[in-house]
Amino acid sequence: MNSEGRTRLNRLPEWAALGKHREQLGETHLRELFAADPERGTRHTLRVGDLYLDYSKHLVTDETLTLLRELAAVTGVAELRDAMFRGEKINTTEDRAVLHTALRAPRGAVIEVDGEDVVPGVHAVLDKMGAFADKVRAGEWTGHTGKPIKNIVNIGIGGSDLGPAMAYEVLRSYTRRDLTFRFVSNVDGADLHEAVRDLDPAETLFIVASKTFTTIETITNATSARNWLLTELRAGQEAVAKHFVALSTNAEKVEEFGIDTANMFEFWDWVGGRYSYDSAIGLSLMIAIGPERFREMLDGFHLVDEHFRTAPPEENAPLLLGLLGVWYGAFFDAQSHAVLPYSHYLSKFTAYLQQLDMESNGKSVDRQGNRVDWQTGPVVWGTPGTNGQHAYYQLIHQGTKVIPADFIGFARPVDDLLPGLVAQHDLLMANFFAQTQALAFGKTPEEVRAEGVAEELVPHKTFQGNHPTTTILADALTPSVLGQLIALYEHKVFVQGAIWNIDSFDQWGVELGKVLAKKIEPVLTEGEGGEQLDSSTAGLVSAYRSLRGR
Ligand code: F6P
Repeated sequence: MNSEGRTRLNRLPEWAALGKHREQLGETHLRELFAADPERGTRHTLRVGDLYLDYSKHLVTDETLTLLRELAAVTGVAELRDAMFRGEKINTTEDRAVLHTALRAPRGAVIEVDGEDVVPGVHAVLDKMGAFADKVRAGEWTGHTGKPIKNIVNIGIGGSDLGPAMAYEVLRSYTRRDLTFRFVSNVDGADLHEAVRDLDPAETLFIVASKTFTTIETITNATSARNWLLTELRAGQEAVAKHFVALSTNAEKVEEFGIDTANMFEFWDWVGGRYSYDSAIGLSLMIAIGPERFREMLDGFHLVDEHFRTAPPEENAPLLLGLLGVWYGAFFDAQSHAVLPYSHYLSKFTAYLQQLDMESNGKSVDRQGNRVDWQTGPVVWGTPGTNGQHAYYQLIHQGTKVIPADFIGFARPVDDLLPGLVAQHDLLMANFFAQTQALAFGKTPEEVRAEGVAEELVPHKTFQGNHPTTTILADALTPSVLGQLIALYEHKVFVQGAIWNIDSFDQWGVELGKVLAKKIEPVLTEGEGGEQLDSSTAGLVSAYRSLRGR
């Protein structure tokens, strides 16, 4: 028991039942599971909105799924989910509600935080963003010299960068190709340098995206961008209003920076950074794809929110995906989870999911502050599939690690693909289907021998198989489908945090490095205070200073 009277996860009878079941399952192979049930490949599937989800290639039986759902029931996943949707302060360490679902609630819905309905505010900001985006898209928002804006540079980091940067790539074919979009996040000056070096400042708009407006990387880059702009334009502070807008919850700091709060797009403390790109943080994306497409994306999110909120456990896709991750972490010692999209446009998708998942569930104390003694969030990794096939898939196929993987693919290529390239899509998708088949069923030594392979090479050419995968297939990569996919992963992460009994909505783990960097910076520049450093860091700092000639 912990201080709140909640039985610790690994002392629950449901946990023990899963452990026993895992022992019974032993080395059961997917080949056997498929042979025993000819319907498995169609039975273990779900349809959510436009997503077709096949989970038949997982190391589970019907009994596994029942036991996992029992675990979800006893750990209160549904109760916590309902509390989240009601706007209760389930982010206990920060005493905040967790209401990214309100960002995509339809006009007229009622969701209260501290007795106040937040939905009208959400739509007021969306409308303000829409009017601004239309103005920029129409060439009516002009810069200091009167030239229309042609370049949009988003400056932000973490959730204030990864979401819009990822979604811009995903929805490239919907973007205004005559406008240039860049995303600057790294405090390494090279990032801003490469983003602006070929831009005309007179045609450039900077969107400074920061929930807190105190993040050192963003404020430093925004300050440098302002210096660059004013110097290049030979203008004074008055030019800032035409070239800088802010996305933030902190009006005071925005004003302090010199941005007119009339040019600020607001959001709220109940939106976590990594859950924020469907808030004002998505302004750059909205300018790129237009307000209408942005709303289609929000509708996609909302569709999956409603599915998660209302679908029974047997048909609830985020619940299922969350449970499968818990199963592999706890009972197969899986340390990582690969996300392998078969779409070039999803090249930043896994990087986005890394923050969503790892910042949310990279925790080792439970909600009551006790150390957990079970696995929490996995290392999330991956790149577009066909490239991975020629790089690291070797390890997934024949290495020693259990790596559950998600394969994401689309039936149709994007609409504006050059006609000569459309035929390549079948080849891409043939690879997509082949990989999960190979991972699941492998190739037995007998099959290898039957091909006449020399005996000494048989072990090398054998594929053990039995590698678990989820396949997510959709018709096309539309704004709505993107919203559906992101909401699916958001809620999957939620389910896992609920079961592991951790606060998925704080991120204290990023604080220490920030504090130490602040202390080290003056040592680098002034050379003072180095004696307080440990001997390794002191040695490194001194080497750095001498390399810099200090
Ligand atoms: O990395 C910590 C973090 O707080 C993230 O959660 C957040 O997305 C990022 O920094 C940026 O924060 P902000 O939007 O306040 O600049």
